[in-house]
Amino acid sequence: MASEFAVEMRDVVKRFVTPEGNEIAAVDHVTMQIKNGEFFSMLGSSGCGKTTSLRMIAGFEWPSDGEVYIEGKPMGHTPPYQRKVNTVFQSYALFQHMSVYQNIAFGLEMEGAGADEIKKRVGRALEMVQLTGMERRKPRQLSGGQQQRVAVARALVKTPDVLLLDEPLGALDLKLRKEMQLELKALQQQLGITFIYVTHDQEEALTMSDRIAVMSKGRVQQLATPVEIYERPVNKFVADFIGESNFLEGTIKALSAKEASVFIPALNAEVKGMPMSPSLVNGEEVVVSIRPEKLRIVDGPAKGEGLFKARVVNSVYIGSDTHVYLDVHGIRLKVMEQNRISRLDPSSFYVKEQEITIYLMPENTLVLKKE
Ligand SMILES: Nc1ncnc2c1ncn2[C@@H]1O[C@H](COP(=O)(O)OP(=O)(O)O)[C@@H](O)[C@H]1O
Ligand SMILES: [Mg+2]
Repeated sequence: MASEFAVEMRDVVKRFVTPEGNEIAAVDHVTMQIKNGEFFSMLGSSGCGKTTSLRMIAGFEWPSDGEVYIEGKPMGHTPPYQRKVNTVFQSYALFQHMSVYQNIAFGLEMEGAGADEIKKRVGRALEMVQLTGMERRKPRQLSGGQQQRVAVARALVKTPDVLLLDEPLGALDLKLRKEMQLELKALQQQLGITFIYVTHDQEEALTMSDRIAVMSKGRVQQLATPVEIYERPVNKFVADFIGESNFLEGTIKALSAKEASVFIPALNAEVKGMPMSPSLVNGEEVVVSIRPEKLRIVDGPAKGEGLFKARVVNSVYIGSDTHVYLDVHGIRLKVMEQNRISRLDPSSFYVKEQEITIYLMPENTLVLKKE
């Protein structure tokens, strides 16, 4: 292949004029390189510029600035049908009056492919999504998940190098969505083609992706693997957006190459040996981030390194876990504990106003820039 990258966005900007006459940058200097065969996701809340980015890759929109490259070639104003990409849209709107076969064949017919060619390719696409035998059904005679697979087959039949998927599972209920996530991921691995997947659902992105671009307000906040994004978010926004986090304010007292000691007023203590994000300086005011599942409630008094006294504000049993809300000198902290043992005895649960000890392990924290 010509390029290591299936798709690149280089410093892409897309400006729109709103009906009120204001100019907004829906996509604001976005650079990302999507590798061949990668399952790549753009993740962010509604309005952060995901669909606009995807539409520029597909060729439905053109950048105001910067350039989209497909297989190393600048796309300029190349129209959608000349790009080796195909899109599965959010509202996958199948033609209700047409059979599964006709829905999938439609694009090929429009291109003027021959009948034999169409039959062969539709057959293959149906095989890929495991719907062989269903070709005569109408969409309403299929389950939501099967309809979704028809939409994927309709895009795959054109043998794109890159499949663009814009929140394709948004209309499905939670259970089916989880099944389809695994199915789509398996399909992508089996086909070996590049998927660029847009979602606002962080769990979905973490489940499926090789790499994720976390976006906010038209910009990429972090582009990394799911593990890096969860374990080493680069800023407070990402730490807060992906999963949950407790934040404690503090001041850096000492620094080494990768670790910091931070004085945290809420704990009235200096915590040493905490991993930190790059480019922080001594004396800087920072936030220390710690995930609820990484904070521990321990037996015994709060005496010793990393041990602190806290008061239970609320304890919420949710079956698999218990969420314990704590107060530490006026600061709220959340602890998530897995319920690994089956028990009914009320005295085995935390109660309001109970004094407990928490253990803050420096390795489990992350020092971040205060924004
Ligand atoms: N054609 C358009 N004209 C004006 N504003 C638009 C247009 N398309 C998108 N926008 C605006 O650009 C921003 C990003 O939109 P979009 O890319 O659809 O976000 P997302 O898919 O992440 O929800 C939003 O503020 C949206 O209102
Ligand atoms: Mg969108």
